Amino acid sequence: MQSWIPLVPESASTVSSKVDAIYFYLSGVTLFFTLLISAILVFFVVRYRRRSPYEIPRPIAGSHKLETLWTIIPFVIAMTIFGWSARVYFEQYRPPQNAMEVYVVGKQWMWKIQHSTGQREINELHVPVGRKIKLIMTTEDVIHDFFVPAFRMKADVVPGKYTTEWFEATKTGTYHLFCAEYCGMNHSGMIGQVIVMEPREFDNWLTGNLSNTTPAVAGQQLFQSLGCVSCHGANGEGGRGPTLAGLYGKQTRLAGGETVVADESYLRESILNPQAKLVEGFGPIMPTFQGQVSEDQVMQLLAFIKSLQVTNPQQSAPAASPTSTRATTQATPRPNPK
Ligand code: CUA
Repeated sequence: MQSWIPLVPESASTVSSKVDAIYFYLSGVTLFFTLLISAILVFFVVRYRRRSPYEIPRPIAGSHKLETLWTIIPFVIAMTIFGWSARVYFEQYRPPQNAMEVYVVGKQWMWKIQHSTGQREINELHVPVGRKIKLIMTTEDVIHDFFVPAFRMKADVVPGKYTTEWFEATKTGTYHLFCAEYCGMNHSGMIGQVIVMEPREFDNWLTGNLSNTTPAVAGQQLFQSLGCVSCHGANGEGGRGPTLAGLYGKQTRLAGGETVVADESYLRESILNPQAKLVEGFGPIMPTFQGQVSEDQVMQLLAFIKSLQVTNPQQSAPAASPTSTRATTQATPRPNPK
């Protein structure tokens, strides 16, 4: 939108003009009051200057009317800023259901990225134009911050949790990716680029960078090698442990009676610290996997759990054979959990 203003970085996502609008509103409000107050200041200096050395000014008793006025006006202005920014923030913070998912792991000092189709990249992110992209981000060490100025997208990536953000690029091109949180010696070198391509070009790029294992398949292998299968079943059908098939995105009842949405953060916590939120009806028998799996592997397990669909919601007993490779069909769209 405002590409003619040299102070503003290029605008290349659906949200960037909204962020710019808030920015210009803030600048406008600031400029208006700076000018207004400066003008009043000059006016008062001249108007109420001391006219004779013996002049004694009339004392000021105060005015409730004035005080109310200069409390209410700034309050209303501050609330417009708050309400407006909160709306844009929540819009950016809540990824749409149909977004394409990309996993991002920050690490001193690089960005490791994996697409749900398996392709891996370092310090580069290839995406198609006009498509909603959801980033599921975490870090292996300290806090980093994923910042793409052209998309007006900036989010802290914090150890021990997932940050999700989404964007939709509106223009093809190559855009800067920065780490915007001081993270040690080579923080300034933790840079990369986001390459926005035409959808067909992107498909070519995907097939040209074929990877043998998707995160979901790698997750399935981990699921077996770590022994998760013995309690959760080979296809997440459950047993001594809660059912995992169809779990992602659903409301889950906990032992304490409260419910949580089984999102990425909940699943991650339940892998690394299973006692934190016990599912109703299950004992604290699951061992922790803290320190035994890397962030990459947690993301793979997550991709596998997401890929598990409910085969027969009525009776989930002997549904699938243990050799089922349903995880490989991860690319097919999952029905929206509502
Ligand atoms: Cu990573 Cu600064």
